[in-house]
Amino acid sequence: MTRPSVYITRKINEEALKLLSATCDITSWPGPDPVPRSELLKNIPGKDALFCMLTDKIDKEVLEKADKLKVISTMSVGYDHLEIPEIKKRQIKIGYTPDILTDATAELTVALLLATSRRLLEANAEARTGGWKAWAPFWMCGPGLGGATVGIVGFGRIGQEVAKRLKPFNTRQILYHSRSAKKEAEEIGARKVTLDELLTQSDFVVVCCALTPETKGMFNEGAFKKMKKSAVFVNTSRGAVVDQDALVRALQSGEIWGAGLDVMTPEPLPLDDPLFGLKNCVILPHIGSACIETRNQMAVLTANNILEALRGGKMPAELIL
Ligand code: DGY
Repeated sequence: MTRPSVYITRKINEEALKLLSATCDITSWPGPDPVPRSELLKNIPGKDALFCMLTDKIDKEVLEKADKLKVISTMSVGYDHLEIPEIKKRQIKIGYTPDILTDATAELTVALLLATSRRLLEANAEARTGGWKAWAPFWMCGPGLGGATVGIVGFGRIGQEVAKRLKPFNTRQILYHSRSAKKEAEEIGARKVTLDELLTQSDFVVVCCALTPETKGMFNEGAFKKMKKSAVFVNTSRGAVVDQDALVRALQSGEIWGAGLDVMTPEPLPLDDPLFGLKNCVILPHIGSACIETRNQMAVLTANNILEALRGGKMPAELIL
């Protein structure tokens, strides 16, 4: 019997590789960097399964060459890099990695919020470059969480875990905005409000929603104008939910106090991007789920999704839309 063939778009961990290679023939892009598009297009014909990352755009062009593909398993919870209608049309199954990265991403969101509001990177740079002359009463100050209103946009698994972690900082209230009311909100002590209410009332606006046609560009000039001048804006979802030029203007003009971004457009952000020139903007290179254990588990789940789909069994995390 011939073994199914799997294409892996990046160097992955031994554990996931071992799982797959026990029953499948593996071809992979060996680098730590994303597979070049031409390599992906060259390698996809004849493969039964694709193990991919959020950096790989799986669109019509790729799918037209994927003559045998039965399953696409992405090592991410986000799936905006997959052209879903084209995949569905071909009845290819989709696996993803929800849940296991929730804690890691919520943790990073809180870390980024605090790094931004308490100016950790700026302060560290001052200490290293001689800017620290003496203790100074009003130097390196930023807004605190105690007594603050936190507004979370997108109240799924990650948004809820962010809320739980922020409550013990003695926040005054947690507001959230999402399409539907969440039953978990009552226990967490979060209140559903309209987007406008959230933007105008929050001291911290935290974005945890998925990128969809509805959320694309939702943080635009109008949204930043509605926020408090003292507001801290934090985004760990996807860069495209933000109109980045509008964000730059809001940060430059003092329309908002600061921003912490783990995601942006494009990624990586070019070194000459105006965001890098702003002291009130903390920029991280999309490391939301970058906990050692989490990333290992994500790779294993991605592999198990493939194995089950190829066996015709129930995938541990199938994306059903
Ligand atoms: C995801 O999985 O979609 C995150 O953005 C990366 O960890």
